[in-house]
Amino acid sequence: MPHRPYVIDEMISAKSIAARVEGLARDIHEDFKGTDKLVVVGLLRGSFVFIADLVRELDLPVEVDFLEASSYGDSTESSREVRILKDLRGQIEGRDVLVVEDIVDTGHTLAHVTDYLSTRHPRKLRTIALLDKPARREVDFKATWTGFEIPDEFVVGYGIDFAQRNRNLPFIGKVRFTG
Ligand code: IMP
Repeated sequence: MPHRPYVIDEMISAKSIAARVEGLARDIHEDFKGTDKLVVVGLLRGSFVFIADLVRELDLPVEVDFLEASSYGDSTESSREVRILKDLRGQIEGRDVLVVEDIVDTGHTLAHVTDYLSTRHPRKLRTIALLDKPARREVDFKATWTGFEIPDEFVVGYGIDFAQRNRNLPFIGKVRFTG
């Protein structure tokens, strides 16, 4: 289906993202130092660029795994159902786990995923989101670490898509419709 035409206005530069990722890695390092293994779980697909940059800043024994959750809205209800489409390959019982997400928006996805993973009894379960849109929250959820709080705008780039496009932009940009 063709889209309305749009342009992308830069909101967070590649340089600012890189500096923030370095700072976040320092906080994660502090929290997990001494771990025998940190399982870093990327939520597909939006976190793939963030997780790639983040793990390369971590001087810890790291294992990388992925999980895919899909959320879909029902226009007649405010509640949203989240389904696990692809589960982890590895075990996390008794492990240190960090879940990596691109954006916390309504909060349903990360709230559900952390509940789901908690049932496997990880030793420690933390969450990190590159972006947070607090104005959109529907459930009480806050990631352990957040890269940037942003206003209620639709954003793309650095792994984040608009109908599967624009994931490859090196910066975060805001979608502005022109027609
Ligand atoms: P939540 O369950 O509403 O917190 O959903 C978070 C998910 O919604 C993110 O992982 C994104 O896939 C998607 N999302 C939320 N806001 C945006 C946006 O501005 N651009 C692209 N995807 C978004």
